[in-house]
Amino acid sequence: MKGKIDLEKFLQSRKEVLATWPTGAEVSLEDGINYHKALPPEKNFAVKLKKVKEEGITAIQPRAGVALLNEHIALLKYLEKEGEADFLPTTIDSYTRQNRYQEAQRGIEESLAEGRSMLNGFPAVNYGVYPCRKIIEEVNVPVQVRHGTPDARLLAEITLAGGFSSFEGGGITYNIPYAKEVPLRKSIEDWQYVDRLIGYYAEHGVLINRESFGPLTGTLVPPSVTIAINILELLLAVEQGVKSFTLGLGQCGNLNQDVAALHGMVELAEEYLKRFGFQDVDLTTVFHQWMGGFPQDEARAFAVIAWGAVAAALAKANKVIVKTPHEALGVPTKEANAQGLKTTRQIVNMLKDQRFMVNEEYLLEKEMVKKEARAIVERTLELGEGDLVAGIERAFAAGVIDVPFAPSRFNLGKILPARDDTGAVRILEFGNLPFDSEIREFHRERLKRRGEKEGREPSFQMVIDDIYAIGKGMLVGKPRTK
Ligand code: 5AD
Repeated sequence: MKGKIDLEKFLQSRKEVLATWPTGAEVSLEDGINYHKALPPEKNFAVKLKKVKEEGITAIQPRAGVALLNEHIALLKYLEKEGEADFLPTTIDSYTRQNRYQEAQRGIEESLAEGRSMLNGFPAVNYGVYPCRKIIEEVNVPVQVRHGTPDARLLAEITLAGGFSSFEGGGITYNIPYAKEVPLRKSIEDWQYVDRLIGYYAEHGVLINRESFGPLTGTLVPPSVTIAINILELLLAVEQGVKSFTLGLGQCGNLNQDVAALHGMVELAEEYLKRFGFQDVDLTTVFHQWMGGFPQDEARAFAVIAWGAVAAALAKANKVIVKTPHEALGVPTKEANAQGLKTTRQIVNMLKDQRFMVNEEYLLEKEMVKKEARAIVERTLELGEGDLVAGIERAFAAGVIDVPFAPSRFNLGKILPARDDTGAVRILEFGNLPFDSEIREFHRERLKRRGEKEGREPSFQMVIDDIYAIGKGMLVGKPRTK
């Protein structure tokens, strides 16, 4: 690895970034650092997460963001009081995610005129540093920026100076699932800037948490692909001085597989941190409830929410990101959002003293997922020849890392997942994943079992059936019976 971005170079590029929108002029590192130091520790994301990990509980966090400042604050307060959220979000709107601040401005104006939110999130760049601080001051728990931005440099500058203490994303996870044309090198370098900024805060005594976006394109991403990507983003982040990092995983739906994947991810990440000499990093986990299509029926939606809560609680994920009964419809009302939180809280509390029962299938699952993820990471490191960014770029180009269903043209898109007969996600087409024959045979065997049960060969039709299964009240897409 190449080490931290040179300070002088970093400070120089900051000037260019801050000049891209007028509110950039409000940002000063010194002022931002002083502001964080004056905040009570219970509002610091990294500090609270560390405590949550020590206590062995699973904290709950919603997604939420609207266009107008006062409404956004009212929404967060409601989710804190009524929903009992342990951590709060600020979900950023789609224009800001694409650096289209002019259009975000129009969205604010239209929202003012209409008296309701005309954006799908909070346009933090347009508001600037001081309105962000107002959000932080009005709530009593830490607040995180959640978005989907390939170039989040200005967003990070403004929100971190504004008192936010966690920042979701990464150069891979906020590019490949979100953009079509952004080169990986560009998004990775822009995220190295974000990580360097957080490293700068850390050097000056302020801990900011970084979180990878685990779910990628949804519920059919093979966990080993997610784990490998998370580990690479972890290494990129700690290289720039990040000291608190949260690994993310989206629910696939099979309990054994979900728990094994979360545990395997932590074990492997710790191994790599040790190998590269980063032992002063607080490593935590987040589990995302079902990131796929949802049933429209609210009672059924609550069941999907609850099943994700069970997996998070039994796996002892440090945090769970909560869905709402409005998921099938769009941006939820504050009441629906709080309902998702309450369902999750109930489960997490009920299961807090129960442990996942280790079984043979879990052990095998964990062993295989680690083997697979390790193969991907090792091949990526080899391809990089000491340059991690080049390695990731080459790995994606070669299909050594391959995310199914991703829009990016910098992703090969040759692999195909499908569920086995127990609902665990397996790989039907391996593309160029660097897997040995043992791994391939494991997947083939599992898919064959399903094929035999359903009286059909494993094929693309299974994948299609799996995508629509949840809406039909199932996890595995069984063939249509005539
Ligand atoms: N408020 C609440 N949830 C949101 N999501 C996206 N934007 C918002 C918002 N402004 C949720 C979607 C989906 C996930 C990816 O993010 O409903 O569950």
